[in-house]
Amino acid sequence: MARIAHLSDIHFGAHDPKVVSATEAWLEEHQPDLVIISGDFTQRAKVDQFREASAYLNRLRAAGFRTLAVPGNHDVPLYDVTRRFTAPLRRYKRYIDSDLCPWFENEEVAVLGINTARSLTIKDGRINREQMDLIHRRFEAVAANKTRILVTHHPLFAMPIGEGSELSEAVGRHDDAIRAVCEAGVHIALAGHFHRTYAEAARKMVENAGSALVIQAGTATSTRFRNNELQSFNWLHVNRNNDLELQVIAWDGQRFTRGNHVRYMFEQDNWNARPLMDAAST
Ligand SMILES: [Fe+2]
Ligand SMILES: [Fe+2]
Repeated sequence: MARIAHLSDIHFGAHDPKVVSATEAWLEEHQPDLVIISGDFTQRAKVDQFREASAYLNRLRAAGFRTLAVPGNHDVPLYDVTRRFTAPLRRYKRYIDSDLCPWFENEEVAVLGINTARSLTIKDGRINREQMDLIHRRFEAVAANKTRILVTHHPLFAMPIGEGSELSEAVGRHDDAIRAVCEAGVHIALAGHFHRTYAEAARKMVENAGSALVIQAGTATSTRFRNNELQSFNWLHVNRNNDLELQVIAWDGQRFTRGNHVRYMFEQDNWNARPLMDAAST
């Protein structure tokens, strides 16, 4: 079983230091095999914000954790127009990771990160042909029994964002991206951006989505909430590529506590959710 902590939208510059420390303590206690951070490391891509984010990552790495990161739209300078268009991710590469296509593989999972943050699209993100080819190439070489996980900041799939039926914008070249995910046999698509937790079988959301389960993380540490949802992150136990548990670890104002806990099993060509009543899994 692979144990993965999926954090997102940590937004240094608009973060709560108490919650930041609490994530570190939680990770220290639970010892994940991999810590994924799916973008928006900073609030405004400023150097001091990147320095804080870098120090956070360095503390996690010094504690022995493997990490995998992708940039978010907030990691591209918004107001510094020159930098925005000439070197949009220079600071991200310097302070967070020079690799914009990070890869993690162990006996159980193969994880690929893809950058969807662009200079021209402020919010909605984009995926290009080269990245789609990369998704194919990297996952093609992975043993069939491993769970293939794709990480982006922007969700590849439109998802509900409001209280009603309001849907988000999906990533640019949405249809092509979904086809690439489908053809590469991606089992889990992890993303953030909306500061809202969500999990749903991709094929329930769009046609031809393959067998991907779409999992969104809330904001782990920022003070910018959507729908009054406080900070949270996802705790994944990947048993096999057709069987995983997802538990939302949610901030209650004082500490991180175990929230919604669901087992997902891929049966009869679909992901079926079975809520777990206990909170015993660690
Ligand atoms: Fe964000
Ligand atoms: Fe974002």
